[in-house]
Amino acid sequence: MRHIAAALTALSVIFVAGSVSAAADEAKGKRVFNKCRACHSVAVGVSKIGPSLNGIIGRTAGSWKKKNGKLFPFSSAMKKAGKGNKPLVWNAKTLKNFLKAPKKFVPGNRMSFPGLRKEADRDNLFAFLAKATK
Ligand code: HEC
Repeated sequence: MRHIAAALTALSVIFVAGSVSAAADEAKGKRVFNKCRACHSVAVGVSKIGPSLNGIIGRTAGSWKKKNGKLFPFSSAMKKAGKGNKPLVWNAKTLKNFLKAPKKFVPGNRMSFPGLRKEADRDNLFAFLAKATK
């Protein structure tokens, strides 16, 4: 019995250590953002092919307006996602799910990006975005 207890303790130590090293890493997230930079800026009011990601957390999908007050030319799919009874609002969960498989999460949207397959990449990118887009 004691051996089992000792083994379990050792295992839990390994798990805890593992989860610490897996904690979201902002610096790594900044590198992941290189995949987004061509199309997105985190600066206020700057759109490229995609809308500015400044203030993305807490923002309703498909609602970002340009400096001239005009709505960014979102696809109808993205605009629709942000409307109705359950409008899509970007937060940790929705952003990570979207970035995993953009075409699945918002079918018909026009963001040409296949998605981030690795969970660590999504977590690290979110850690970066949470600060950089404030
Ligand atoms: C090839 C250009 C391109 C790349 C690369 C790209 N995006 Fe996009 N993104 C877009 C476009 C265009 C839209 C608007 C889509 C629509 O209206 O259907 C968009 C929309 C979004 C939205 C929703 C914005 C809103 O206001 O509702 C988020 C969030 C987003 N992108 C994040 C990212 C992140 C993070 C990455 C990198 C992992 C990325 N995108 C990579 C072009 C791109």
